[in-house]
Amino acid sequence: MRKILVTGGCGFIGSNFVLHLLRTRKDLQVVNLDKLTYAGNLVNLSEIEGDPRHRFVHGDICDEALVARLLADGVDSVVNFAAETHVDRSIQDSAPFILTNVGGTHALLVAARKCKVRKFIQVGTDEVYGSLGPSGLFTEDSPLQPNNPYSASKAGADLLVRAFQRTYGMDATITRCTNNYGPFQFPEKAIPVFIGNALADRPIPVYGDGLHVRDWLFVEDHCRAIEAVMERGRAGEVYNVGGANELPNIELARLILRELKKPESLIQFVKDRPGHDRRYALDSSKLSRELGWKPLVSLAEGIPRTVRWYCEHQDWLRRVQTGEYQEYYRKHYHERHGLQE
Ligand code: NAD
Ligand code: TYD
Repeated sequence: MRKILVTGGCGFIGSNFVLHLLRTRKDLQVVNLDKLTYAGNLVNLSEIEGDPRHRFVHGDICDEALVARLLADGVDSVVNFAAETHVDRSIQDSAPFILTNVGGTHALLVAARKCKVRKFIQVGTDEVYGSLGPSGLFTEDSPLQPNNPYSASKAGADLLVRAFQRTYGMDATITRCTNNYGPFQFPEKAIPVFIGNALADRPIPVYGDGLHVRDWLFVEDHCRAIEAVMERGRAGEVYNVGGANELPNIELARLILRELKKPESLIQFVKDRPGHDRRYALDSSKLSRELGWKPLVSLAEGIPRTVRWYCEHQDWLRRVQTGEYQEYYRKHYHERHGLQE
């Protein structure tokens, strides 16, 4: 059975990806290396607890020796999700972003090269392209113009992946995706913050004038795109992954409030984020043309599905909001399976 190393598989997109692979593929095994930072939550994977095709390893992608040990055990491909991901946190303290996103990606590349891993997928973001004006789309050839420490660290990682492919001939491919939403997103990002606050009748903080535009993609569509790139993506290429679902933040807030039948008076404009990118939007025709991918879930379907998921998983939300998830679930998993600390 082919073995895939997924890093950051306890985070939002990583856990959706692990679940997607194990639900839909019978030919794959997953080794999931995750440091369990505040963003890692093992309960996201409770559906596959005990599944022999999933092995969780508690560790850091910066630990090159650990990564090399895992890879030497017959790993075919690496899919790197592990990262510090929240722009606002990167503005408060950029150091962990550089260590994990740049240093960690470098350690993974070195180990992958040493162990002759067949394929390396770097999960990247459209934020590396910087901010767009009111019209136009970023293509894979757009210049990298990151405007905050998070996007700068992701751009650094992409450049290292590119360099390892060009210098050492590694089979490495980069994806750059727009804003994801869906189940298990940590309630510090816009959509779960808006839903969580509205559910508790607390104000919804909209940054600045609320006219910043994001392109939203349902997380399952992103997982399918990464799977397609893992299977058929060309070495040395970049693939944009866009949702073609652009929305100003204020409209997003209104949509969520309507879905929850809560009043618009909950919207509260707050101080803007420094260096706040005005608009992101992607041309993902390369991915469609070469690999036949297209998004299947529109915002009209995905937002109600996501709102419903959070309504039905308020216990998940509460445990994350209180911090209880970290100790409780680590202990729970440890007792049953043993954690490699
Ligand atoms: P997340 O913050 O929800 O999860 C990150 C995961 O990485 C967590 O489980 C965390 O414990 C783990 N991690 C962090 N540092 C680690 C380290 N040093 N070693 C091992 N594990 C570590 O992030 P997400 O939203 O799921 O994003 C996953 C990837 O997708 C990131 O690389 C991000 O840049 C990229 N991406 C995200 C979006 C989005 O909208 N969320 C869009 C495009 C690209
Ligand atoms: P976010 O989910 O943090 O993703 P990113 O910064 O990577 O795009 O934010 C999405 C948009 O929503 C962004 O323009 C910032 C804005 N935002 C708010 O208006 N209020 C909030 O509480 C948050 C977290 C974000």
